[in-house]
Amino acid sequence: MSLNEFKAAGTRMAGAPDAASMLGTVPFFSGLDEKKRKALVSEGKEMSYGTGDTIVGEGAMGVGFYLILEGQAEVRKGGRVLASLGKGEFFGEMSLIDGQPRSADVVTVSPTKCWALTSWAFAGLVKANPEVALLMLKEMVKRLRAAQNSPTS
Ligand code: CMP
Repeated sequence: MSLNEFKAAGTRMAGAPDAASMLGTVPFFSGLDEKKRKALVSEGKEMSYGTGDTIVGEGAMGVGFYLILEGQAEVRKGGRVLASLGKGEFFGEMSLIDGQPRSADVVTVSPTKCWALTSWAFAGLVKANPEVALLMLKEMVKRLRAAQNSPTS
């Protein structure tokens, strides 16, 4: 099990004055009021990556949930690109939900900034905010349908 994924140099966002409004521009959190967003921001870390960085590696135990603030990343498994994710999209939820290893690699294809939450902060977020949990479920269903419709599934 590796904690390195989340220990990579990150900046706590508590001091970032516009971090809460930045999260407000992301549809995922737009249903939360300013007060909730501010509380949430202080629990996360902003992480910066270069091009070609593996943010999460298939098979590793997951310790973080990630929301892309800037840039682009690909979800890759067995030499295939399963999805391309950009600003406002999330990844890393699967391992945190079921405690199983990471299901795929997530690799940056441009310089990328993410907002990352530890597994325990993620659990708190989902339990306290059903509207966020529902948006996440909708996105997961969309991904499942896309996977069902992919030619090699
Ligand atoms: P997790 O398994 O924790 O780590 C890899 C992440 O890639 C996974 O969580 C999802 O967030 C994401 N992922 C896995 N499969 C797909 C897919 N088919 N489409 C989009 N994202 C995916």
